[in-house]
Amino acid sequence: MELLSSIAAIRTFSGSARGRGRRIALVPTMGYLHEGHASLIRAARAHAEVVVVSAFVNPLQFGPAEDFDLYPRDAQRDRAVAAEAGADALWTPAGDEMYPVAPEVTVNPGTVGTILEGAIRPGHFAGVLTVVLKLFGLVAPDVAVFGRKDAQQAFLVRRMVHDLNVPVTIVVAPSVREPDGLAMSSRNVYLGPAERQAASAIPRALAAGVALFRSGERRAGNVVAATWKALSAESALTVEYINVVDPDTFMPSHAATPRSYLVVAARAGKRRLIDNVVLSEGLEADRQIAAG
Ligand code: PAJ
Repeated sequence: MELLSSIAAIRTFSGSARGRGRRIALVPTMGYLHEGHASLIRAARAHAEVVVVSAFVNPLQFGPAEDFDLYPRDAQRDRAVAAEAGADALWTPAGDEMYPVAPEVTVNPGTVGTILEGAIRPGHFAGVLTVVLKLFGLVAPDVAVFGRKDAQQAFLVRRMVHDLNVPVTIVVAPSVREPDGLAMSSRNVYLGPAERQAASAIPRALAAGVALFRSGERRAGNVVAATWKALSAESALTVEYINVVDPDTFMPSHAATPRSYLVVAARAGKRRLIDNVVLSEGLEADRQIAAG
């Protein structure tokens, strides 16, 4: 696996792969790689001969009171996980080369950028889409792979590529979960033992919403209420939002359909956790890693 850091190095690497007629897949990450990222790297392999993983903690998508400085970083572990999953290159751009000056021109994520995660984290999705567009410009991949774990982000990336005619095919891969169902996340390391224990109520609550949908309920409000009830049984969690969203617009809807997402955000202490499920698919569509 090649280790690249400068912009010149990634341009040369991808230019040469393209010159040899190879298809390139990009897996954008913020590093601290785990099995969820590894599954995206393996999924990328099915779409391209050359798989590039970027690991860059993007300051633009963190709010002033958020955890940019504290975000976990481990370059050695990133190399091991990316190589083991079969990446051909791990690119770790430097902050001052990505942003020699604060960018004046950024991507406007539109209405969906202002709801749900966007309402709680103003400016977050503008930061995400701006860095993703830069990464696409620098790597010029044929395909880019994102996780459904961050469903709103994946929706907005697809929408950006569609609306701005960016020549990249977006692939969205299922979530990878811990043995108790908690979606894997780099930020899970922040959770203390009691918070970690409480966090497992989130997948249980999603399963409760899915069970009601499967029993025939089609009113989104009732699916949300069942999920809310299951989640409030865990007193260590504070619910931020629970919604059924339309898969084509990502707007909250009154109707629960097979393709709707049930999306949840909750806090355990200071830590935010987000998760979601497609109603007809349930958590069974995701991959659960083995215990131990
Ligand atoms: P990061 O949180 O590192 O996630 C990188 C990619 O991994 C995202 O597409 C995310 O959805 C996916 N991912 C995270 N946890 C996952 C899990 N448990 N199962 C499957 N996929 C998972 O998302 C970002 O970084 C950044 O916003 C980024 C897109 C890189 C832009 O900075």
